[in-house]
Amino acid sequence: MSGERPIGVIGVGWVGLVTATCFADMGHEVIAMDIDAAKIRSLSRREVPIHEPGIEKLLERNADRLTFTTEMEAVLESARLLFCCVDTPPTYSGDADLSRVQAVVSQLADDGDHALVMKSTVPSGTGRAIRRDAPGLSYVSCPEFLKEGTAVEDFLHPDRVVIGADAGAEWAADQIEAIYRPLGGEIVRTDVASAEMIKLAANAFLATKISFINEIANVCEEVGADVTEVARGMGLDKRIGPSFLRAGVGYGGSCFPKDVSALKQLAGNTGYHFQLLTAVIEVNELQKRRVIGKLEKHLGSLAGKTIALLGLAFKPDTDDMREASSLVLAARLHGEGATVRGYDPVAERPASELLPSVELSGSAEEALEGADAAVLVTEWPEFAELDWEALRERMGNALVVDGRNFLDAQRLRDAGFAYEGIGLANGESDEAREARESAEAGSR
Ligand SMILES: NC(=O)c1ccc[n+]([C@@H]2O[C@H](COP(=O)([O-])OP(=O)(O)OC[C@H]3O[C@@H](n4cnc5c(N)ncnc54)[C@H](O)[C@@H]3O)[C@@H](O)[C@H]2O)c1
Repeated sequence: MSGERPIGVIGVGWVGLVTATCFADMGHEVIAMDIDAAKIRSLSRREVPIHEPGIEKLLERNADRLTFTTEMEAVLESARLLFCCVDTPPTYSGDADLSRVQAVVSQLADDGDHALVMKSTVPSGTGRAIRRDAPGLSYVSCPEFLKEGTAVEDFLHPDRVVIGADAGAEWAADQIEAIYRPLGGEIVRTDVASAEMIKLAANAFLATKISFINEIANVCEEVGADVTEVARGMGLDKRIGPSFLRAGVGYGGSCFPKDVSALKQLAGNTGYHFQLLTAVIEVNELQKRRVIGKLEKHLGSLAGKTIALLGLAFKPDTDDMREASSLVLAARLHGEGATVRGYDPVAERPASELLPSVELSGSAEEALEGADAAVLVTEWPEFAELDWEALRERMGNALVVDGRNFLDAQRLRDAGFAYEGIGLANGESDEAREARESAEAGSR
């Protein structure tokens, strides 16, 4: 806003780009910096390097309020609040790798004029360590809760905004609160360590919900229950809520796997064994592999078979493939001797780098041509709209394993497919079984 100093954003990936463009859309001047010169060049040309709905429009609409640079000095000269949005990937030990955060801190002047606002997800204790090394730097923890695919919407309509600051950084916390207040979410003012912990605990809880419903799904298959019905009945209980109760082939992405593991390691480093998270991680790993058993049930050995993976991104509406279930599935299928094809509407570029041994197709139809089975990994809407009746004739074998319970099981069965979902009573919902049984009775 006029008269105010611009907001600095450091690291212009998913979180940084959404933060920068949304702040600009709220009327603020923003200067955004990244060490990736190619990314900065393309953003300066107003080209968006990621697939995230809404960003292009925001970038275009607010072009005159957004500056992109590779120079930290330019940011420090103009901005006082520096939103740090660099990546914090997992290390081999499962701890968060804070080297990018440290690289940023090492460039900041310890002059009392700037505040580092941590949006990157970092272990509890990071803020304390940074303040110990740079006592003149004000430090605020302001974790980000957006979801890829709906990131702009999430940013502009937050459930809550967490602002953690200790003594000396209140001036920055007050400014951040004023920036976020127009968005309407509840503001949670707290200390730095608690703010850091809120982010890790929230992601660990959501991942726990997913692993929980996946285990329920596996039991449903044994006892003849339908997990979609069970989740609906559970989710209507306000104490439980309906979200993150969708059974499938497990969670992936750039956040849940690394944040759950980082919290487990953080606890372990203090001598505390976080048993529940150990199980959550193990359940998630095993869940990705259950697809193999479902394929073998129908095809026997997978050696020499051709399996088409529909969807490679970790979720729809993103081209992000970090920790995607497709990576584990492709590796397991190769291990069984299968030929693996893959198709994703937007993730072709990362897929060509991360899945070099998968034959990438230009369309779902091309991937399914002559294939022995289709495995739906990512619930892109276009997969529900395929002409499955026609595809039945073009596939080598009529088998669909729906890793997200997304397709219309009845329609596929009517088209002559063997259909396997996750947690659907031997791959068949009650409704589908009743319909089949009555059809069979009618034909006798
Ligand atoms: N992606 C999400 O959905 C999401 C949601 C909430 C929180 N987070 C957290 O936010 C952080 C960023 O995640 P992301 O997905 O945006 O990562 P990302 O990998 O998409 O982007 C990180 C950016 O930081 C840049 N960078 C690295 N080192 C730098 C440095 N020294 N100076 C300037 N730029 C530098 C990289 O070039 C890259 O463009 C992570 O800690 C993540 O856990 C991510």
